[in-house]
Amino acid sequence: MIIAQITDLHVVARDRLCYRKVPTNAQLAEAVAHINGLEPRPDVVIASGDLTDHGREEEYEVLRQILSGLAPPVFLIPGNHDRREGLRKVFADQPYMPPPEAPFVNYTIEGYPIRLVALDTLVTGQHHGLIDDHQLRWLEQTLSAQPKRPTLIFMHHPPFRTGVRWMDSSGLHGGRKMEEIVSRHRQVLRVACGHIHRPIHVAWAGTIASVAPSTCHQVSLNMGDREALDFIMEPRAIQLHVMDPGYGLVSHLSYVPNGYERVSLLGTLAEGVAANLLEHERKAYLELCRKEYDPPG
Ligand SMILES: [Fe+2]
Ligand SMILES: [Fe+2]
Repeated sequence: MIIAQITDLHVVARDRLCYRKVPTNAQLAEAVAHINGLEPRPDVVIASGDLTDHGREEEYEVLRQILSGLAPPVFLIPGNHDRREGLRKVFADQPYMPPPEAPFVNYTIEGYPIRLVALDTLVTGQHHGLIDDHQLRWLEQTLSAQPKRPTLIFMHHPPFRTGVRWMDSSGLHGGRKMEEIVSRHRQVLRVACGHIHRPIHVAWAGTIASVAPSTCHQVSLNMGDREALDFIMEPRAIQLHVMDPGYGLVSHLSYVPNGYERVSLLGTLAEGVAANLLEHERKAYLELCRKEYDPPG
């Protein structure tokens, strides 16, 4: 089983840029194409929050339209930029989506070799997240119900301290209590999070907890207390959690190239390969590369 994790999509209204400079919608469309092109193709996609930038209904409509291009099924949870109302309304027909009267967007996905547990950490209108007593009880009951099934929990706010101190100050409240619960359930193979817009891994609660990079911009690595909103166009990526039945869950980063990056990378590769060829081969090879990556018209 292969689980593709996308996070912090920050989708905006049609023909808009996020922060007036980042084409998050186009970047998500590239991530969708990237996932569809993977071989073998992932079985499911999980999206771990900050699905939209403002939580507006029109943004969820754009999100739905872009994600409709995904070949595998996709499962969504909210992050601090989201609003449950808009998410539930636009995705109300999804069987996994809890009804509007449910206080949280928690659910489980059964029927795959790995059980997926979606845990909602959103506090409406706040940057920080929360696992309150209701959520802790739900998690305990959910994990106790199937103690032998390999399980992946996905959530937006990481339940551990990342060391990016200015982001930790808008982190998860209740992480320590969650740690006590997860440490008693050895079937939890991964806790997959978002929110920080950087790849992070840590041994936590007897398992591995991680943060996947965003499908759009990343945040400058700044371990200090100063709020650093100077996000940076480091490579965008998705995380692939791959189950090997005889071994366990192995996680990979897969970078999402855009058209320009792909051409320039292949161009550099072509020069490198050509340097090792004989003169007449080199000419033919570079000609072929030009045709391949710069087609006429
Ligand atoms: Fe985010
Ligand atoms: Fe976030």
